[in-house]
Formats: sequence, structure tokens, C-alpha cells
Amino acid sequence: MGKAMIINKSKEIVKLPAPRFDGNIPVETALSKRRSVRSYAAEALTLAEVSQLLWSAQGITDSRGFRTAPSAGALYPLELYIVAGMVRGIPAGIYKYRPHTHELSKILDGDLRAQLCGAALNQSSVKQAPLVFVFCAVHERITGKYGNRSIQYVYMEVGHASQNVCLQAVSLDLWTLTIGAFYDDRVKTVINAMADEHPLYIMTIGRLKSE
Ligand SMILES: Cc1cc2nc3c(=O)[nH]c(=O)nc-3n(C[C@H](O)[C@H](O)[C@H](O)COP(=O)(O)O)c2cc1C
Repeated sequence: MGKAMIINKSKEIVKLPAPRFDGNIPVETALSKRRSVRSYAAEALTLAEVSQLLWSAQGITDSRGFRTAPSAGALYPLELYIVAGMVRGIPAGIYKYRPHTHELSKILDGDLRAQLCGAALNQSSVKQAPLVFVFCAVHERITGKYGNRSIQYVYMEVGHASQNVCLQAVSLDLWTLTIGAFYDDRVKTVINAMADEHPLYIMTIGRLKSE
């Protein structure tokens, strides 16, 4: 695998297809079907699926800038990176979600799933999934208002956002795994996160392997 190349952060933007506001299955069905899956088919996701999953996590749903997931004080401390391995329409790489414009900005070129897998205690689902989400927090966005309580607020918020993704995935006939076991610093290096962005949660997403 070639060494990843840092791209000018302001230059490479991927406009995402608009998200849909309807779906085929009731929320109760999604809740009862959701299950952690650790092994995925070697099949690409579409950009429309990626768009929908990102929107479910942090999409803007209100003219005041409010989002799909609640946020203490509407201060939005989360940043969402994707590690794209196999996504139709975009090259493998690390991208960051921009909720306000519903775009991705490219951070790094290259398939970095194996490196991320290493940073996540070699959990093979990270290397195998066509798409991986990495939620990070910028704690400073909320510490001014909430002081010490900010720490728990950030963890609560990432729970909301990741559960949205779990349910959205079921509705798209995709499967997820939420991962908390990883080396924070190594994950941060792999995704080239900013100094004030701290990795909180990894999610692998893909299709079920056929029997
Ligand atoms: C905070 C958190 C961290 C987790 N970390 C991991 C992990 O590092 N690796 C893993 O395989 N599963 C991880 N899981 C998934 C759990 O193992 C899984 O949810 C549990 O076995 C119940 O199965 P279910 O999700 O299918 O209901 C994590 C779940 C949570 C909520």
C-alpha cells in the first residue's frame, strides 16, 4: 500500500447527494433488527448511502442549524471523519463531513483501513468494512459553558449520533459495529485529526456477507 498523501484541506470537496427524509421501514423494525456485525461483504457502498449515513449522524435539520442528534446547548462538539475504503464515486481516503454544506472535504488520499485497524487493536472489521466512521470531539467548544460536565455531555452526544447511524444503516440494509477499543493517539494520527480533535468512537459499516 502506498504512503498516504496529505491533500490541501480546502481544495478537495465532494458534494454529497441530498439525503432522503423517508424510508421503507418503521423505527421499531430498525430497533429490533439492529445487531453488531463484525464481518462484511467486499462490496462498495454508494455515495447516496454514505450521504444518508452522514446525515443521520450530524445532518442539519433546521434553519437554526440544529441537527439530527441533540447537543447540549446546541454547541456541537462532534467532528465526523470517514475512512472510505470502497465507496463508489470517491477514491479511497480520509474525509471530513461538513454538515452545513452536506459535503466531504478530503483530508488524506489512500486506503488507510489497515492502519486504522492496527490502531484499533487489530479488530478485523475495521480493515474489512467498506466504510468506517470516526467520531471525534472538540471539548473546548463546550467547556466554557459546561465546565467539568462537558466530558459526560460529549459522550452522551456521540451515543445519540452513533445510534442514529445504527438505525439508519438498518433502514438501508447495512450493518454496523460500534468500537470503543482503540489507541486514541494512533487513531488521531491515522486520520490526521486536528490537535484539538479527540477520537471518541469508531463505527464500521457494510453489507452482510452472503452465506
Ligand atoms: C461503548 C461500546 C464500545 C464497544 N466496543 C467494541 C469493540 O471495541 N469491539 C467490538 O467488537 N464490539 C464493541 N462493542 C459492541 C458490543 O460488543 C455489542 O454491542 C454487544 O456485544 C451487544 O451486541 P449487539 O450490538 O449486537 O446488540 C461496543 C459497544 C459499545 C456500546
